[in-house]
Amino acid sequence: MEAEAAPIVKRLGLHFDDPRIIPGPSTAQSYSGTAHDLTVHLVVNGKDTRFEVDNVGTPAASLTTYLAAQAFKPDLVISLGTAGGFKTKGAAIGSVFVGTSTVNHDRRIPLPGFDKYGLWHCDCIPTPNLQKALKLQAGVVSSGNSLDWVKEDWDIMQQNGAAVKEMEAAGIAWALHYFDIPFFCLKSITDIVDGDRPPQEEFLENLGAAAQALQDTVAPVLEFISGKSVEAL
Ligand code: ADE
Repeated sequence: MEAEAAPIVKRLGLHFDDPRIIPGPSTAQSYSGTAHDLTVHLVVNGKDTRFEVDNVGTPAASLTTYLAAQAFKPDLVISLGTAGGFKTKGAAIGSVFVGTSTVNHDRRIPLPGFDKYGLWHCDCIPTPNLQKALKLQAGVVSSGNSLDWVKEDWDIMQQNGAAVKEMEAAGIAWALHYFDIPFFCLKSITDIVDGDRPPQEEFLENLGAAAQALQDTVAPVLEFISGKSVEAL
């Protein structure tokens, strides 16, 4: 979302890519610049042309990722954003998690072979040194296209040991598998999935604080990555 991206754009001093680099008619937009000797492209989905709100969810994430991968040919992709977190996995409002794998919790297809296809579990690149150096929590990121959850979503999140619930990472992982680009997630917690408050309430209340926590983490993460091979992360 733009509200998540804007503080990072400012903090890293990125510029809006005009003319656009990611071709239309997709609404994806990018910001580019240099940070800690890395060339950085921050890509957002843009606004839905019908409803004029930020494009969220796995379809927009997959489309944007596919087009951005073609346009920028990145060496590494980080799925940045806010998310719900499980307190049973150590999440608190404003804590930042590194994603170790991604899975879909709302694609239930009980047909031979399609059950696993629906989940589309995908390992992120290992980042033990990054987690240790920046004292970041780590866990499974589970994606679905609803801010809330139903019992079936809950069961799948539990079966897969989800620590983080959001709406994009598994769609990004799926698009990236066509390109074989290394990938991990950085997710800042706005709401507690296994708490007792409606996610929309907590999300709106904590979006600013979580976006700040994300912004405060991105710069040190880029600094740590700079000059290292993917294997050294
Ligand atoms: N983004 C922030 N909180 C979320 C939640 N609980 N579910 C999905 N996406 C989110």
